[in-house]
Amino acid sequence: MSSQPDAAPRPRSHAGRYLFLFLLGLAVGAVAAVMGLRALQARADPFPDALMHVLAHQSGQLREAAKANRCAASDTLPRLQTLRMLSNDLEPAFPGLASDARFGEAASGLRASLDQALAAPPTDCAQLAAVNQAVGDGCKACHRDFKN
Ligand code: HEC
Repeated sequence: MSSQPDAAPRPRSHAGRYLFLFLLGLAVGAVAAVMGLRALQARADPFPDALMHVLAHQSGQLREAAKANRCAASDTLPRLQTLRMLSNDLEPAFPGLASDARFGEAASGLRASLDQALAAPPTDCAQLAAVNQAVGDGCKACHRDFKN
């Protein structure tokens, strides 16, 4: 009976397997990172931008109305009311800024201009132009400090 040295398990290199596992780990890590970023992005609150876009739409419609000579109260009041209601949500939309005094002042300033316009609604295009100017100034008063 001779011993059979050939049958002994040959020391094998595992380098290939390690490389494979390393690359697999990289790939899994990359996929997980992308999924994590997506989840973070999805959690970003769409409300503040949505509020701003609706404000922009409504005030844009008022400017269009002035240009098109549609300046009766029935054309403008609903939009002014919508703008006034929406501007109640300025602070809740930007919880991080709401405690800043300048932000609060700008928000109150816009609400005050709208209150004034609702108390004495524009009856002709000259008055509507003045209201539009005041509303635009209200937007700018905040954007100057808080929008880049
Ligand atoms: C009290 C503060 C404040 C007032 C008043 C205000 N905004 Fe803004 N607005 C912001 C801030 C803060 C941003 C920046 C938001 C951001 O970067 O996510 C912004 C951004 C915007 C944007 C860009 C949105 C985007 O997604 O890029 C528009 C359009 C806009 N505002 C329209 C208006 C209009 C129109 C008015 C007035 C009727 C108005 N805003 C009044 C604070 C205000």
